[in-house]
Amino acid sequence: MADTLTITDNRTGKQYEVPITDGTIKAMDLRKIKASEEDFGLMTYDPAFTNTASCRSAITYIDGDKGELEYRGYPIEQLAEKSTYLEVAYLLMFGELPTPTQLHDWEQGIVKHTLLHENIKHLMRGFRYDAHPMGVFLSTVGALSTFYPDAKKVHDPEMRLKHIKRLIAKTPTIAAYAYRHTTGKFYVYPDNNLSFAGNFLNMLFKMTEAKFEVNPVLERALDILFILHADHEQNCGTNAMRAIGSSEVDPYSALAGASAALYGPLHGGANEAVLTMLREIGSKANVPAFIEKVKKGEGRLMGFGHRVYKSYDPRARIIKKAAYDVFEVTGTNPLLDLALELERIALEDEYFVKRKLYPNVDFYSGLIYQALGFAPEMFTVLFAIPRTAGWVAQWDELHRDADQKIARPRQIYTGYRTRDYIPMEKRGKE
Ligand code: CMC
Repeated sequence: MADTLTITDNRTGKQYEVPITDGTIKAMDLRKIKASEEDFGLMTYDPAFTNTASCRSAITYIDGDKGELEYRGYPIEQLAEKSTYLEVAYLLMFGELPTPTQLHDWEQGIVKHTLLHENIKHLMRGFRYDAHPMGVFLSTVGALSTFYPDAKKVHDPEMRLKHIKRLIAKTPTIAAYAYRHTTGKFYVYPDNNLSFAGNFLNMLFKMTEAKFEVNPVLERALDILFILHADHEQNCGTNAMRAIGSSEVDPYSALAGASAALYGPLHGGANEAVLTMLREIGSKANVPAFIEKVKKGEGRLMGFGHRVYKSYDPRARIIKKAAYDVFEVTGTNPLLDLALELERIALEDEYFVKRKLYPNVDFYSGLIYQALGFAPEMFTVLFAIPRTAGWVAQWDELHRDADQKIARPRQIYTGYRTRDYIPMEKRGKE
């Protein structure tokens, strides 16, 4: 017997059979439940989409209770240990790990797009000296659409792939230029003989030396961070990518919107907020007082809690370990002790235990980024670079999905109904 849900409408006594597929019912199946003929039909009210599946996706799997994350079925721990960011980007995009030839072609197809049009440099120079690099990043990504008008052909899979490669290749260059802009330094062109992470470090930190030496430990740590941030199914930024993409706009415009979503302090901006918070707390002695403030609702413990994970975020565990590898090279970050103390106290505290609040991906990543020499304003940009791989894979999947249409939620209207316009002289006199 097929799985169905029987709903009895107590107002009319009518019964409705609603099929259950993949643990969900179709919201549109509720439309047939009507109190009267004129009735529009039953809707669901789900602000912030906390219990609504907006798509079918085969890209990323999360079990929030168990703290499991898999890309295309491969556990994140194995990918972080054995893979590279570009290989993971291929996996997210095509669903399988590449053969050596496929990986070679994919990497070559990406590196040839790392350069930016020279006019992009002029555009970026127009930003104020203290412009936030994330604001610069998202504006510049959006501006790329004007350079590639054929990106509008979103129904052409070959064309989509061409621009997907461009986006994966160009986001590090944009990010590096945004960073150098805020530090008043000249822009460094990409060096395609280096690895993806190595080239990025070179574009960020090269000065007048003939050859910038990329430290292999830091290069690998950055690549691991990129792997961990590459995708995370239907979060705020990815939902923005899909919702904007559903209007059939080009991927540069959609990715600018997704980046804007990521910019917020509750999403990708949290890693920057964690550093600010740690600095404000200042010392271990102040941790208990800070925790009390959070419990009273006066602020949040940034880097803690997650909409999906109700246990330790698996990415946070990997990052915590990577932090120690980085600190071996850079020397320890004094804020690490503070973060460890904060975690220790929070994990024992009834408030956090009861609400299942654990460290998320952002709790330790900022400490590594800081040790690598980045200013906190760069942290969200460092998240956006690898998330590009996830966004474009999700965007491509959207365009292959016959169920998808332009995203357009409904509302419960709570305002006035039809009333007469009041002339200016009569307003406020009733
Ligand atoms: N500190 C203190 N209390 C918290 C926190 C926190 N970080 N997160 C949630 N709570 C409390 C919240 O006040 C609420 O308590 P009550 O039931 O008494 O009202 C309860 O826990 C449930 O929280 P919620 O706001 O309903 O949970 P949510 O799923 O809407 O929010 C979140 C998820 C990530 C936005 C939230 O946990 C948060 O603001 N965390 C801090 C910001 C952060 O670290 N964001 C990075 C997320 S991971 C990276 C990413 O995916 O972008």
